[in-house]
Amino acid sequence: MSVDEKQSTADTTSSTLSKVEQTSLFMAAGRAIESRKPESERAFYDPYAEIFAGTRGFEQLDRIIKTLKIPKPEMFHAHITFRTKYFDDMIKAAVGKIEKKCEEKGIKKLPKLQVVILGVGCDTRSYRLDILKGCHVFEVDMGDVIKFREEILAHKCKAKTEAIIKSVAGDLNDLEKFNLGDALIKQGYDTDNSVSIWICEGLISYLSSSSLDRVFRLASDTLCCKNETWKDLNLNWFVANCLNENTPVEDHLQQSLNVTFKSSFKTPHVLLEKYGYKEWSVVPSGGKCKDYKNDYLKQVENSANVRELAISFFFYGCK
Ligand SMILES: C[S@@+](CC[C@H](N)C(=O)[O-])C[C@H]1O[C@@H](n2cnc3c(N)ncnc32)[C@H](O)[C@@H]1O
Repeated sequence: MSVDEKQSTADTTSSTLSKVEQTSLFMAAGRAIESRKPESERAFYDPYAEIFAGTRGFEQLDRIIKTLKIPKPEMFHAHITFRTKYFDDMIKAAVGKIEKKCEEKGIKKLPKLQVVILGVGCDTRSYRLDILKGCHVFEVDMGDVIKFREEILAHKCKAKTEAIIKSVAGDLNDLEKFNLGDALIKQGYDTDNSVSIWICEGLISYLSSSSLDRVFRLASDTLCCKNETWKDLNLNWFVANCLNENTPVEDHLQQSLNVTFKSSFKTPHVLLEKYGYKEWSVVPSGGKCKDYKNDYLKQVENSANVRELAISFFFYGCK
């Protein structure tokens, strides 16, 4: 089956997705554009992005660029590339740090690693990143998006991976009907001998504050590793991004995607501190400060610089 035929299957299936679910498509389009570059120039290669995006994803991407009045499309493509690379790099950094901290303590048997990808959309990290070989990856999204992934990856692309993937379908905002913690445990999530990396990319905007609270509580407490050795080493990670609150970008994005956002933040480090993450970092996109906690904090405290310039924030915490 040709790429065009696979794309047309993706178009047919994605037409049944809701507007919120369809927001996964423009990210796939952006990743496809990066993946078309020669090997020596691209930041990553996602062989499935072109197919997932279909024509709908590229149209969505163009609409966002027009509504946001971005002078050159490459500037927004670069934002998607940066975002994808940030999360790829953080997963690699987390695994590296886990190994280093264990080595420093003379721990020979490393903890098992599990990764939870919330609002997975068309993310194919479980297939792309060699570092996830042998890891348990829990991919969470609405039921229709999980079906869409299966249709494209398993049936149309016959995609292969050495990660152990568990799909978890449910609406994270439906606190009554969908118990995320139970669903993860049912799929084999382990709190005794495994440490975890939770990935929350492009999702926070869609979560209500109570749903976000549940996610943070699960990641930082209820489902955090109970093994004393690993617990003391701060090996559990939470990596996320969010939009800056009340900016024109937030309004324009809602307009072009035809969705309503539920959560955004001016100072996301407050969230990390609230849930007990002692080691953390925040990178404001479009802001001036570097990837250092102190730089960022100084700017937040001294002026409105970070809060006004950044359109979004990338952050992680470990505990
Ligand atoms: C902007 S996309 C991001 C997809 C992917 N993480 C990425 O960055 O490419 C948002 C994703 O979150 C999912 N999502 C939004 N609200 C959700 C909810 N209440 N429960 C589960 N998934 C949700 C959507 O279906 C969609 O796949």
